[in-house]
Amino acid sequence: MAEEKALLSVLRGEARNVPPVWLMRQAGRYLPEYRDIRATAKNFLDFCYSPKKAAEVTLQPIRRFHFDAAILFSDILVVPDAMGQQVSFESGAGPRLERIETPEQVERLGAFRIEHLSPVFETIDLVKAALPSDVAFIGFCGAPFTVASYMIAGQGTPDQAPARLFAYRHADAFAQLIDRIVAASIDYLARQIEAGVEVVQIFDSWAGVLPANEFQRWSAEPVRRIVEGVKARHPQTPVIAFVRGADTHLTQLVKTIGADAYGIDTALDPAWAAAQTPATVPLQGNLDPLVLVVGGEALDREVESIRAAFKGRPHIFNLGHGILQQTPIENVERLVARVRRGG
Ligand code: CP3
Repeated sequence: MAEEKALLSVLRGEARNVPPVWLMRQAGRYLPEYRDIRATAKNFLDFCYSPKKAAEVTLQPIRRFHFDAAILFSDILVVPDAMGQQVSFESGAGPRLERIETPEQVERLGAFRIEHLSPVFETIDLVKAALPSDVAFIGFCGAPFTVASYMIAGQGTPDQAPARLFAYRHADAFAQLIDRIVAASIDYLARQIEAGVEVVQIFDSWAGVLPANEFQRWSAEPVRRIVEGVKARHPQTPVIAFVRGADTHLTQLVKTIGADAYGIDTALDPAWAAAQTPATVPLQGNLDPLVLVVGGEALDREVESIRAAFKGRPHIFNLGHGILQQTPIENVERLVARVRRGG
């Protein structure tokens, strides 16, 4: 029988001497071969919905760095797009959506049309056929709070104030929006699994702006419901929850949301995270993307320090947030070599 993929064995709770490694946003603009293909697409969403191109950029970082996992090339904002909200990406400016400013606009949102995302499932099919046998395949979605915050503000903001104001002013309508995203995300992740991904990750990139009660209600609870819904349909598929800014809530999350592994962001002390969570729970992270830009001995030191903090427990080496565009390729090579040195 073929040996189990390293990422999948860690997600089952195995502590490995050499942790599997992949990087959030590993397909992207720091790669010249990505920029070449990106230049052939009309716009970013079109690119996400071009199976051949999306499959190719999913595979690019695997060919270059032999990471232990490929992550599907797509975006979290394809879910609002499939609800009929207008979504576009302006180069250099990030996402632009038709803003949601009133409860009536939540009511008027269209049904989630999963067929609209059939190119994504085709991409999965193409990647699956081309992936080396030791590389795991990760699908993903955005968590409801993070997705809702873009749907309401219509763009990125420093602190998601528009969504937080909306949630205080119109709690029922906000809850309805969150419920819609929960249901869509369960369907979407289940379909990704049926198409061939082996693991799914839920990105709650903006949970960290919420005060404790709001965090519980709008981040932790909706993520828990997605995990529950996915597990009801696909009990064998591991789920990674990346709740950026979870901070001291991490201990509670690990007890309550039912994911198989937890991503931790750069701000969290890995030794604290390891001490505060049961030693059997796999943790993923958490190198500072900025030290990967710098490279050299500063990078080596941070890699060693993270590895030391997670020694003896199931750990997936990753960044604490997405890779930055200005990251030199040779630093990524150095990172992978350093992680795989053993120890
Ligand atoms: O990880 C991967 O390599 C897979 C693909 C992936 C993308 N976006 C591609 C992308 C994933 C997993 C995402 C997740 C995503 N998208 C998140 C959550 C993770 C995080 O980083 O916090 C969020 C908040 C988004 C929304 C989004 N998409 C923003 C805010 C932006 C603009 C900012 C930016 O990085 O440019 C995007 C665009 C985007 N998504 C790009 C890529 C490669 C760059 C667009 C381009 O190439 O023109």
